[in-house]
This record gives sequence, structure tokens and C-alpha cells, in this order.
Amino acid sequence: MNDPLVYLNGEMTPLSEAKIPVLDRGFIFGDGVYEVIPIYGRRMFRSEQHMARLFRSLDKIGIPNPHDLAGWMALIRQVVDASPDDEQMVYLQVTRGVARRAHAFPAEVTPTVFIMTNPLVLPSAEVRSKGVACVTMDDKRWLHCEIKSVSLLGNVLAAQHAAENQVTEAIQFRDGMLTEGSSSNVWIVKDGVLAGPPKDNLILEGIRYGLIQELCEGLGIPMQVRRISREEVFAADEVMISSATKEVLPVTRIDGQPVGNGAPGPIYAKLYEAYQAAKAAA
Ligand code: PDD
Repeated sequence: MNDPLVYLNGEMTPLSEAKIPVLDRGFIFGDGVYEVIPIYGRRMFRSEQHMARLFRSLDKIGIPNPHDLAGWMALIRQVVDASPDDEQMVYLQVTRGVARRAHAFPAEVTPTVFIMTNPLVLPSAEVRSKGVACVTMDDKRWLHCEIKSVSLLGNVLAAQHAAENQVTEAIQFRDGMLTEGSSSNVWIVKDGVLAGPPKDNLILEGIRYGLIQELCEGLGIPMQVRRISREEVFAADEVMISSATKEVLPVTRIDGQPVGNGAPGPIYAKLYEAYQAAKAAA
């Protein structure tokens, strides 16, 4: 079995030997945060933005940041360098640490830090040429989706709903308004204008969210950040999802109905091309 080297609490160790105590609060309470960072050509993509989001997540749940920016970058670099792959997906997790089980924060505790990397598997050219199918569902998650928390039960159940319907992603709505996918941000295009939901507590601000805003500016694609109704999603000319592992991906069927003319649209094509250029330039 492939047994990559991972970082756990100060040491590099084979994944199969990396162990945490059962009283780790990540295991007991889901009390921790994480990041997923794409590596292209052995280089981190948008590392500053990923680190800034990690620092925000830690701050929001009161976990003291165990490393400064340079320290984090060196640790990630160590894990990336130990992998044979040029294209990787780094997974990084920080939990509050190990303590006797009691809900409130323990007085003295050292955060658990875990970093692993896997080969980055991107959607194939065939998938891109056809686009993907999605289903819709009510968003049943908590009201702090802006924190990249490892407490992902709501997202897990949404992803399972998509899997059971043999589609790629579940698009969620809260009170009839678009929030996001189980593990992606969602975009619509109508009459040449791209729109995404506000970056508030109801969604995770994807690192690709900011990137797509920048790409739209560069390409002269008008962009709106606003509440988007379920009806607007179904009436859209194009729908897209974005994430570290999907980059930007066209959605061509929702709940069995075609999106627009049922094929990936021109705004998607422009954004995807610009995304690849941004990767190459990074
Ligand atoms: N998920 N929204 C949710 C709920 C997500 O889980 C993700 C990413 C995104 C997109 O964020 P970004 O552009 O930074 O990847 C939006 C990662 C990939 C994961 O959990 O594996």
C-alpha cells in the first residue's frame, strides 16, 4: 500500500503509523479546523489566502495558532517535498488537542497539528466537456459555515445525498436562497452576468471565490454578489461549482433538468481558461 510521509505534532511519520489519542477533541467533539491546498508543479497555489483563512478559522474558535506563517509554510513544504507527485492536494488539520472529556475549553492544552498530502485528482477532460449533474436540497447545517471546521456532518450528509442520486454535488438552499455545495461554492450566470451568494456566515469563503472575482475583473465579466433564489438557479444560463479539487466546473443538469442548453457555457469556458493561466503564472 502507498504509505506517504505525513506530519503529526513535530514529526514526519508514515501515514500508517500516525496515531492520535482517542481523547483528542477533534475525535471527541469535532473541535478543530482544516484546510485543503492544491499544489501545482510542486508549488502551493494561493498559499497566502489559504493560510489567512486557516488563521481566521483558528481565531474564530479560539484555538491558539501553533505556528507563524513561515513556520506553517516550512511544515507544508516538508510534506510536499516528501511526496513523489508534482500535483498534490495538501490536507492540514488543527484540533484543540487532547484533554479529559468536558465540553468547554480545557485550561492547558496543546493543539494537535496534522498535515498530509495526496495526489491531486482533477476532473477529466471528458467530465469538463459534458459538465456534471447536481441535486438540490435544504441546507441543514449550523450557522457558522464560514469556519472551515472539521465538524462536517451536515456536509457529509449532503455529499451522501448527492452520491445516492449518482450526481457530483448537492446544491444547498436556506429559506429558498442559494448557499453552496457540500464541498464547493456555487455560481450562476444570467445574460452574461456571473453571480454568487454573499460571503457571510452561511457559506465558506472558498479560496476560489476570491480568485473567480479577480478573474472576472480581468476578463471584463460583470459580477454580482447577492442573494440568489432557487428559481434563479433553475432559470440560469450557466451554473458552476468551484473548489480546490474541482477548480471551476460546469453544472449542466440540476434535479434532472438541463441548465441552459444543457452544455458547458461560454462564461465557464473563459473562466476555466483564465484559471489555467493563473496556475501557470503562480
Ligand atoms: N472544500 N464550500 C465548502 C463547504 C467547501 O468544503 C469547500 C472546499 C468550498 C470551496 O473552497 P476552496 O475554493 O477554498 O476549495 C466551499 C474542500 C476542497 C474539502 O473540504 O475537501
